Amino acid sequence: MTELTQPAPAVGTAARRHLPDAPFLVAARGGVPARVPVWFMRQAGRSLPEYRALRANTSMLAACFDPELVREITLQPVRRHGVDAAILFSDIVVPLVAAGVDLDIVPGTGPVVASPVRTTAGVAGLPVLDAEQVEPVAEAVRLLTAALGETPLIGFAGAPFTLASYLVEGGPSRNHERTKALMYADPATWHTLLDRLADVALTFLRAQIDAGVDAVQLFDSWAGALSLKDYREFVLPHSAKVLGGLADAGVPRTHFGVGTAALLGAMREAGADVVGVDWRTPLDEAVRRVGDDVVVQGNLDPAALFAGDDVVRREVARIVDEGRAARGHVFNLGHGVLPETDPAVLTRVVELVHGLTPGR
Ligand code: CP3
Repeated sequence: MTELTQPAPAVGTAARRHLPDAPFLVAARGGVPARVPVWFMRQAGRSLPEYRALRANTSMLAACFDPELVREITLQPVRRHGVDAAILFSDIVVPLVAAGVDLDIVPGTGPVVASPVRTTAGVAGLPVLDAEQVEPVAEAVRLLTAALGETPLIGFAGAPFTLASYLVEGGPSRNHERTKALMYADPATWHTLLDRLADVALTFLRAQIDAGVDAVQLFDSWAGALSLKDYREFVLPHSAKVLGGLADAGVPRTHFGVGTAALLGAMREAGADVVGVDWRTPLDEAVRRVGDDVVVQGNLDPAALFAGDDVVRREVARIVDEGRAARGHVFNLGHGVLPETDPAVLTRVVELVHGLTPGR
């Protein structure tokens, strides 16, 4: 942790800005920020009318490969809400598409894969990602760091398990049964698949870091479907390959999943500087599970934003208070912004968080 307080000038970091006082980066590195930093997962997206207008004639995936559009969509919530970080507008499946996997993001559904990967041969046929193939994303990062002033830019990737779930199921899944079937019945093929997806995530994140992102988040959104034992055996080593592979990059690494109360300690062990917590686990309880030297991110229930100002005020105060148990706290939702959210309520949350005092 301490080595992050004074980031070493690591290889490939010439592009990175020096933002010593940015509250998000100070908190993520375990320091004491001037205010509690706040940003929102899925802050760019359908809750914003200006996003819907820009996306009107462009598919989600086409937008992700258009650097000017990525720049504009990423900046929209920063301008509107005054959040303490921008998150690159992209998607966890972008590196798979870039590598040549035939898949689409279907509105209202999510990623849909043309030929699901369920066999040893299917895994062997998965393409390898070359950094060149995500050059439009790197270009978007360069445009953004030039435009963002003092606001840090977060890059991200999907973790091997969550990517595997989309590839094996062929689309979104409630129970992840085909994914788990492969995992239990053919561990060798499973580990090969996750190792390859770890390489995809690592290449994607390195390309973003080399282009100048200030922090990264690894989304293992569906890891909460696993028991701790299975997570440790089948997933942790591969997520550790991704996060560990970035240890020398000098950027804070956040690791997030949904329904991960039982996994928080293991997710930290995988190599996270910041542990993302969903709304089900109070932050002080997360700290008791993981250790009080942890930096946490979270964890307002996205649905609470529909409950009126009294509830929002009370919940924001409770979460900031519970976050004081941690070494550092980055305020966020417990999962992404829901599309029907009133954006004015998000702006209100930023004001409320900024009006409260950070902990230690
Ligand atoms: O603002 C941000 O947080 C950055 C943008 C972002 C998107 N996807 C944009 C997006 C991020 C960080 C993601 C990551 C992502 N994508 C995850 C991990 C985070 C999480 O929510 O757990 C996952 C599981 C996906 C897969 C995915 N892509 C889903 C489930 C969907 C929603 C499908 C739908 O229409 O309901 C997408 C599409 C997607 N990714 C949209 C956005 C803004 C909606 C597409 C649209 O606007 O038409």
